[in-house]
Amino acid sequence: MPVTVTSLSAALGAEIAGLDVATLDDAGFATIEAVLHEHLVVRLSGQSLEPAAFVAFARRFGRPEPHVIDQFHHRADPNILILSNPTDERGEPVGLADGGTYFHTDYSYLDVPARCTMLFALEIPGAEAGTTFANQRQAYEDLPGAMKARIDGLVCRHHYGNRDVPDEDSRVAASKLDATQKERMNWVRHPLVRRHPHTGRKSLYAVSGSSYGIEGMHDAEAVALLDELKAHATAEHYVYRPVYAPGDVVIWDNCALLHAAPLVDPASPRTLWRITVKDAGPTL
Ligand SMILES: [Fe+2]
Repeated sequence: MPVTVTSLSAALGAEIAGLDVATLDDAGFATIEAVLHEHLVVRLSGQSLEPAAFVAFARRFGRPEPHVIDQFHHRADPNILILSNPTDERGEPVGLADGGTYFHTDYSYLDVPARCTMLFALEIPGAEAGTTFANQRQAYEDLPGAMKARIDGLVCRHHYGNRDVPDEDSRVAASKLDATQKERMNWVRHPLVRRHPHTGRKSLYAVSGSSYGIEGMHDAEAVALLDELKAHATAEHYVYRPVYAPGDVVIWDNCALLHAAPLVDPASPRTLWRITVKDAGPTL
């Protein structure tokens, strides 16, 4: 079967057909990597993956890092986080529900953030259960020159959490950590305008989610600027929301995107495996 690449929307995203993730060769991986860098989200449908094969695929991009929420790691491999909303026969959750239901980018609360995140879809309810993505490379490129000059070189202060929702019990807050997990979280620094480590192209970076301040700026002024950039960078024309199906593998570029998980009705089962791969080093 020939390999074909089809754009999914004007904003971002491409579908690759003709590649089997479980038996991928180097040329197949090079295709996926190139399409990811250009389109920022890649979808490969009809895949069949065991945990070991999914982790082996992830390792081609770099070093996976298990999520701080360790109670939902897959038993076969802690690099896989189970995202799921059903409960088991005792009423206990089998996975993390409502993870990241606000615009953010993965691991921006860590010194070395995520290069990319990938999902393998197992159980998907009807439409509107996909991730919402926003193209931060295009959002940066479209800014007026005066704004680019104002923000280039600024450094943001990041911490685990959602700047907009301090109530950690809210479904749209960052997933709640226990005391031990909280102790592992520190303040970290990232550029507000980030050069992509592989393509060199600039993007707005993490203007929503973990960014709480800007160095050298009063917090009120910093938050007002971040909020203004967030409103710009999440406008409809930068946004695309794929509809997932069981068997989909979806990979996204965390340097150049914001994304938000869907708020799914708890009565509609949705289960995916997730692996997050780290960048090679810190952003500064
Ligand atoms: Fe996320």
